[in-house]
Amino acid sequence: MQAAIRFLTAAALMAAAAASPIVHAHGDVTPQAVDVSTLKPLGDQKHDENPYRGDKEAIRIGSSAYNQNCARCHGLEAISGGIAPDLRKLPIDKETDIYFRDSVLRGKVRNGAVYMPPFEGMLSQEAIWALRSYLDTRAEVEAPGPVSAMTALAKKSNCLSCHAVDARGVGPAYREVAKKYANDKKAEAKLLAKVKKGGSGTWGKVPMPPMDAVPEDDLKALIKWIMAGAN
Ligand code: HEC
Ligand code: HEC
Repeated sequence: MQAAIRFLTAAALMAAAAASPIVHAHGDVTPQAVDVSTLKPLGDQKHDENPYRGDKEAIRIGSSAYNQNCARCHGLEAISGGIAPDLRKLPIDKETDIYFRDSVLRGKVRNGAVYMPPFEGMLSQEAIWALRSYLDTRAEVEAPGPVSAMTALAKKSNCLSCHAVDARGVGPAYREVAKKYANDKKAEAKLLAKVKKGGSGTWGKVPMPPMDAVPEDDLKALIKWIMAGAN
């Protein structure tokens, strides 16, 4: 069991690394410059707390900077498609301000795999705090309601580290899968076998690892859920 989990993690990491070109295909890879000339300049010293919190102009600039630099992974208007964390869930406090600033500056790189590129040297401090000011306005307002039991099961079974409902991640979007097999009466049985054994070739070259560590009843329920539109 332990070994299976370790294998899955390694496979997910490799697959995620292999998939980064897919993520990039969603939009412009080049970070977009952000015009911050209408904001109070912050100088060279790093701030630990968002100096623009609640500032209308910062929110406006942050919104456009977000759409150009972050939305392709974190979702339009910060509504996460499931590939990258939902930034609406970040608490609004000083500790998280520091965490936010450093996440954006350094990116997220683990074991050589770039999950998120570093923005150091590309986004000014003003732009980073404008982004944070914008994301503050997205917090809670549209926080997702309680997740459905099936979404929770998919998450617990590790499916959502590679799949999202509507967006392509490492694997196909669940709605695409449902569409592809809508007229295939044997689809549920075929998909169960495929998910248990893993494999590639239907959606691309990246393989799905065997998911046989997940109890069969859970896999059956997950596939029924996917075929019904993953709501
Ligand atoms: C290429 C995709 C990609 C882009 C572009 C991107 N991110 Fe990320 N981001 C990720 C992923 C994936 C993670 C989670 C990394 C991990 O597993 O540690 C992440 C994590 C974060 C975190 C930490 C969230 C948490 O809950 O721990 C913050 C904050 C963040 N991103 C902000 C941003 C901002 C702001 C931008 C735009 C300037 C941005 N990201 C652009 C993919 C991306
Ligand atoms: C490490 C990444 C990863 C994980 C974890 C993962 N998948 Fe996949 N999945 C993929 C990839 C990649 C494909 C595309 C395979 C192909 O092209 O044949 C895929 C394909 C699928 C398909 C379509 C198969 C087909 O032949 O059309 C279904 C259904 C599916 N996954 C369900 C699941 C379920 C349910 C889970 C959780 C129990 C899960 N996946 C976990 C990566 C993953």
